[in-house]
Amino acid sequence: MSSEHPTATPRTASYEADPQQVHRVLLLYSGGLDTSVMLKWIQDEYDAEVVCLTVNLGQPGEDYEVIRDKAMRLGALECHVVDAREEFAREYLAPAIKANALYGGGYPLFTALGRPLIAKLAVAQARSADCDTIAHGCTGKGNDQVRIEATVATLAPELKVIAPVRSWQMGREEEIAYAREHGIPVKGGTEAAPYSIDDNLWGRSSEGRWIEDLDHAPEDDVFQLVCRPEDAPDEPEHVELSFERGLPVALNGERFELVELIERTAEIGARNGVGIVDHIEDRIVGLKVRDIYEAPAAAIILTAHQELERLVCTIHQNQFKPQLDRQWAYLVYAGLWWEPLRGDLDAYMDAVNEQVTGTIGLKLYKGHARVVTRSSPNAVYDAALASFAESGGLFSQAASPGFIELWSLQSRMAWRLRNE
Ligand code: ARG
Repeated sequence: MSSEHPTATPRTASYEADPQQVHRVLLLYSGGLDTSVMLKWIQDEYDAEVVCLTVNLGQPGEDYEVIRDKAMRLGALECHVVDAREEFAREYLAPAIKANALYGGGYPLFTALGRPLIAKLAVAQARSADCDTIAHGCTGKGNDQVRIEATVATLAPELKVIAPVRSWQMGREEEIAYAREHGIPVKGGTEAAPYSIDDNLWGRSSEGRWIEDLDHAPEDDVFQLVCRPEDAPDEPEHVELSFERGLPVALNGERFELVELIERTAEIGARNGVGIVDHIEDRIVGLKVRDIYEAPAAAIILTAHQELERLVCTIHQNQFKPQLDRQWAYLVYAGLWWEPLRGDLDAYMDAVNEQVTGTIGLKLYKGHARVVTRSSPNAVYDAALASFAESGGLFSQAASPGFIELWSLQSRMAWRLRNE
């Protein structure tokens, strides 16, 4: 490692910290190798105090007491653990559900939705602990640095940011050596680099190792959340999701708050192998990458929501909304959560979702979730009209030829002009 000052290079952005002015740092701490090394390194390199913040967004199997102890042992001034599951579900996942949010046709945005909330909480904690700088563990190649720094720069122009992983030029070997030297426990062995994992209530992603080899089919050990479809039960499982004004409120007839409903739906999906996505993705920083996603709750809830929306909307709404859905997902993926257009789009999503009330039944079977039943008081559907029976009521078959003649008029004229 170089003995020069960490940011001897000139600053590019207004929010990048001048090393002289870094006195107390709010570190977004996960307890993993990168942020543990950062915790020590910031104290040494900047001669600064470090306050840690760990955010619970529903990542399974995390022991927050262990993380807090580790931070304190590594010299943190304080370590705060914030349970933000409720806020995450209500303020971030709920609008995503109303917008059927999928980026690139397959990624339900769980990381992209979590980052602005994590950064917002970091700003609040930094202010209350009198920190001048926020530190995060993102690399210089990903989307997460964009999401976190855009949030901090938007919400707190007075705070600066440091991103040591982006600048310290330590590889994994050097990080492990640094950890050994400074008494930082390295869990899970050090031989093979692990997958790079991020997870929360809405899903889990894996990157790195063989995943970077595009013609390498998924190895079994990557699936830690969803059961491999071939190992799922031989009997299909039926689930019913009920929605009120665009949000899921009941699972198989039993009402739950959103967090618990998502957790329970995830469990059912996971045991049936539902929600695996092997995704090629265009990052906002220009790279094309591959991610393996496991998002069982999103796979079920978004499928059901979209089906119900189609049922209660008109043909014109159904033609239009997917374009806005796509724009919403792109903005959020791209780290522009605080962009006013997102709020404008939400207003439209809310308006449409006023009608999205009803129940969707799905059959889950070895990796698939297929809609099999629908019901809604707001369905723009009349079984009598749709059936092949006689004319009657609002629908006159006798009117159809007149409709067809006018409907096809311009197309017929154009065809004739070009072909005669
Ligand atoms: N590709 C996804 C995204 O950009 C997942 C990123 C996961 N982040 C991570 N630090 N492992 O949102």
